[in-house]
Amino acid sequence: MDEKTTLFTSPAPTPEQVVRAEAKQWPDGLLERMLALRLPLWKIEESLSAEGFPTLDMIESQVSDRERLASGLFIREATWEDDERLSDLFADSSERLGDWDVTVERSPNPYAQQRLQENWHVKLLEDRGVALGVNVQAGRSSFIGGRPLSVGWMGGWRVRNGFRRLGYSSMLLNAPGSAAGHFGVVSYWYVRLENGMAQSWISHEVTDVAATSGRALDKLTATVHHLDATTGGRLDGRVRRVRPHDLARCVELINATHGGLDLFRPYSVESLSGRLDDLFWGPKPPFIARVYDWDDMAVLEEDGEIVACGGLWDRGRDVRERWRNRTSGEERTVDTACLMDFGFAPGHEGDMAALIGHHLAATRELGRTTLSAPLEFLPSLEARLQWVKPEPETRLLEAMGFTVADQHIEPGIARPYTDLAYW
Ligand SMILES: CC(C)(COP(=O)(O)OP(=O)(O)OC[C@H]1O[C@@H](n2cnc3c(N)ncnc32)[C@H](O)[C@@H]1OP(=O)(O)O)[C@@H](O)C(=O)NCCC(=O)NCCS
Repeated sequence: MDEKTTLFTSPAPTPEQVVRAEAKQWPDGLLERMLALRLPLWKIEESLSAEGFPTLDMIESQVSDRERLASGLFIREATWEDDERLSDLFADSSERLGDWDVTVERSPNPYAQQRLQENWHVKLLEDRGVALGVNVQAGRSSFIGGRPLSVGWMGGWRVRNGFRRLGYSSMLLNAPGSAAGHFGVVSYWYVRLENGMAQSWISHEVTDVAATSGRALDKLTATVHHLDATTGGRLDGRVRRVRPHDLARCVELINATHGGLDLFRPYSVESLSGRLDDLFWGPKPPFIARVYDWDDMAVLEEDGEIVACGGLWDRGRDVRERWRNRTSGEERTVDTACLMDFGFAPGHEGDMAALIGHHLAATRELGRTTLSAPLEFLPSLEARLQWVKPEPETRLLEAMGFTVADQHIEPGIARPYTDLAYW
C-alpha cells in the first residue's frame, strides 16, 4: 500500500476503546465510524467517558451528520475540533531550505500564534477527514507611511508532503474568505530567503496577478534578532510583573519606541490590556490553553518610575522547527521565546537591555535556547546586547496594494515594524 493510500485508511480502535464502547453498549461499528471521520481523540474520549450527556442518541446523530458532510475534497474554516488534524498536517509538510528540510510543528495548540493576531481565519483543505492544506489570514487596521490603512497578513501556507503540485494551494487561494473576514487593502507576507520553492510558487501565484491586475507589489526585507539564551540571562531585582495601573505608562513607552514605523499601530490602554487578557478576561475553562497574558508582561522601575517594559511569549510551547540536513542527516530543533510589546524611555537602552536579560533567564528556565526580538531599527539597544550574541535573521517581506476601478493603493512600506505574532 503506498503512503497516500495508507493515509486515508481508517485508524483502528485500541483494545481499550473497544472494551469501553462495549461497556457503554454502543452499537457495533459506531467507534470505528468515529475514527474513520478522524474526530479528535479528545472528542472520542469525551463520548466514551460521558455520564448521561451527550446521550448515545446524540453521539450517533452527530456521527451520521458528519458522515453525510465528509464526502470528499473540500475547503472550510478550521474549528476547535481541528487541533489534532492541523498539528498532524504541520508535522507532515516541510519547507526546503537549501540542504535542509524544515518542519514547523504546531502542537499541542496549532492556533497559539493566531491568538496573538487580530481577525484571523484558518482555511483548511480536507479530504475524508485528513487535512491536506492550510493557510491563515489575519487583518487589522494599521499605518503605513503615516496613512491609516487596513492590512492583511498571509501566512501558514502548507500543503502536505506527497500532495504537492496538485494545485491544492491554488484551490486555497481561490476559495472565498470567511464572511466574517477583515479585508486588508494591503496584503503582506514573509518568506525565508532560502525558501526558493515558496518564492517560485509565489511568483506564479501572486507576482503575475499583480502584474496583470496593475496592483503594486513591493519587495523588501525585515530582520529580527535571535539572542542566545544558553548563557542563562541575568535576573534583575528592578523587574516586576506588570499591574493594570502600569499600562498607561507602558503604552507611552511602547508607542515612543516604535511610533512612525510602518505596520505599527500605536497601542492604547484598552488594546494592550485586551492583548494581555489572552482572548478574554476573567476565569477561563481548562480547555482554553494559556498563550500569553498578564503574567508574561514585565516592567523595570527606576526611582519609582517605569523606564522599560516588555512581554515574553513562550512560542516554543506550541511552535518548534525541526531542521534535518538531507546530506549529513544532522538534526536540530529550534524553539524560541519572543519579546513582545516592549518599549523604553529615551536614553534607557541599558535598562531595556537589563529587562531583556531578565527575560533571557526566564527563556532558559522554559527550556528554550533563543529569545527572538525585533531590533532592526534599534541599533543602540542591539549594541547593549552583544553579550548574548544577537544573530540577525532576514526574511523577504512582500506587500501587494489594491487596484479596483479608479481606486489604487500602493503599499509603500519602507521601515517595517515586526510584531513577532506575525513572523
Ligand atoms: C509552497 C506550497 C504551499 C505550494 O503548494 P502546492 O499545492 O504544491 O502548489 P500548487 O500545486 O497549487 O502550485 C501552483 C503553481 O505554483 C508553482 N509552484 C508550486 N510549487 C513549486 C515548486 N516547488 N517549484 C516551482 N514552482 C512551484 C507552479 O507554477 C505551480 O503550477 P504548476 O504545477 O501548474 O506548474 C507547498 O509547496 C508547501 O507547502 N511548501 C512547504 C511550506 C512552504 O514553503 N510554505 C510557504 C511559506 S511562505
